[in-house]
Amino acid sequence: MIYTEEFVESRARVEATRTQRLHEEPRRFEADEKRKLLREFHPDYSRKDFTVLQVGPNKGDKVPHELADLLQGRSRVLDRVICLEQIRYDTDVLVIGGGGAGAAAAIEARKQGASVFLVTKLRLGDSNTGMAEGGIQAADKDGDSPAIHYLDALGGGHFKNDPELLEQLVLHGPEAIQWLDRLGVMFDKEPDGMMITTHGGGTSRRRMHACADYSGAEIMRVLRDEVEDENIQIMPYSPAVELLLDENGSAAGAVIYDFDTEEYAVVRAKSVIIATGGSGRLHYQGFPTSNHYGSTADGLVLAYRAGVPLIYAEAVQYHPTGAAYPPQIYGALVTEKVRSLGAMLVNKDGAAFLHPLETRDVVAAAIIRECTARKKGVYALHGPALWLDTPMVNLLHGEGTMERSLPAMIRMYRKFGIDIRKEPILIYPTLHYQNGGICIDTDSATKIPGLYAAGEDVGGIHGTNRLMGNSLLDIIVFGRIAGNRAAIYSRTARPGRLTLEHVRRFEQERAAVGIDSVLLSPKLLPNYTHGRGLEG
Ligand code: FUM
Repeated sequence: MIYTEEFVESRARVEATRTQRLHEEPRRFEADEKRKLLREFHPDYSRKDFTVLQVGPNKGDKVPHELADLLQGRSRVLDRVICLEQIRYDTDVLVIGGGGAGAAAAIEARKQGASVFLVTKLRLGDSNTGMAEGGIQAADKDGDSPAIHYLDALGGGHFKNDPELLEQLVLHGPEAIQWLDRLGVMFDKEPDGMMITTHGGGTSRRRMHACADYSGAEIMRVLRDEVEDENIQIMPYSPAVELLLDENGSAAGAVIYDFDTEEYAVVRAKSVIIATGGSGRLHYQGFPTSNHYGSTADGLVLAYRAGVPLIYAEAVQYHPTGAAYPPQIYGALVTEKVRSLGAMLVNKDGAAFLHPLETRDVVAAAIIRECTARKKGVYALHGPALWLDTPMVNLLHGEGTMERSLPAMIRMYRKFGIDIRKEPILIYPTLHYQNGGICIDTDSATKIPGLYAAGEDVGGIHGTNRLMGNSLLDIIVFGRIAGNRAAIYSRTARPGRLTLEHVRRFEQERAAVGIDSVLLSPKLLPNYTHGRGLEG
């Protein structure tokens, strides 16, 4: 890659301070400093980038503009004739979404003897799960416990986590790892078989289990195999565009849209699980994203229109280290594992300005402050960026560490002629995770009988800021619970007449407050046809 003179001079300053930095540990911020930093620099605290919802169960709450437009958008089924008596598919359990949570749910529902139909917008496994890098937390080592895991996640989540959901998450952590291990996930292990575990931002114990730096790809590989082996009917390229309720208000299926044939079809189900993933492709506040192409908040829209409340939908996670250069990988994830192995964040003068393992929201806000108010960034493609001093990893832990622990990172940069073992890389926060989402209880159940949700489209577990490695855990824990409970529910459910009455009611609510937007939702796919595409 061709670096500007400014890049080259600044990089030389980073190299000049490296030896000294190897022996220093930057101080951690005090609680008051963190609060001030977040208030002044974290994008969630921006005053101009949110809309107050006028309709639906969260009326009066603020959410990012782009999400509000979709939550208050117009249903795709309103302008079509959809005959609800023409049932194309009939199943016990309908799973909407083919990422980690959907796959885990489908496997467990099948285990309970239910017939399972899994619809997915792209292909099975095309998801944020498959792109996850750093690892999965679980308190399964001596000196750690679910209680300590709970306290770490609670602090990281600003004490806003739903206590019961969080308890469920941490208590099931060790079992989730064992389940994945038994299914064949190739976790990093010592020669004696002991799992290798490391720190993440905000963890007080080393409890991050990983498969090098492609943990999600490895987990998804195994889950996909399992789904395909389990006689689960899979319908790719077929997003759900609306939930179906029955005349009693229970979940009873969905209307799906086939991208190939452009037809709509009715799926009747005794129970439904929403597991459609996150919303990074909405590019809130113009941020790039580390998210999968299909991350457009579809599940939130479906649930909201059916009357299910959301929690903390205003809380968004900006991963501190998105690639800021080269342009081909703008916004791609540079795993937190690089920092947990000792790489420091360094400004244009070669100074480390914070502890690299503060929680994500704090690190992201500190980077934004360093680049904006303090003007200590290097001008990259779309604005200022900072250095992540990757060569520190091998210097701290010995030659070969990066090759063993970060092969995907090395490969991602090598394609562009950058050897991250020898030179630092430029980073800036990237939109990574939806902290909030659909309200569920400890059975993964929503307030609508027969409707369950799991994975990134769920809120409450992580408060307003998730810790690294707790999402791979939550998709397994709550995915499995959702599958189990939905299957059990389906044994006695007798869906009545299918209706889209809730959609009509929602449309009336929109009209009553004067919303006449014709923007169709769910969005399904991002629109990159204008400019650089960040307008969604
Ligand atoms: O940095 C990472 O590897 C991301 C992990 C996560 O979001 O849990």
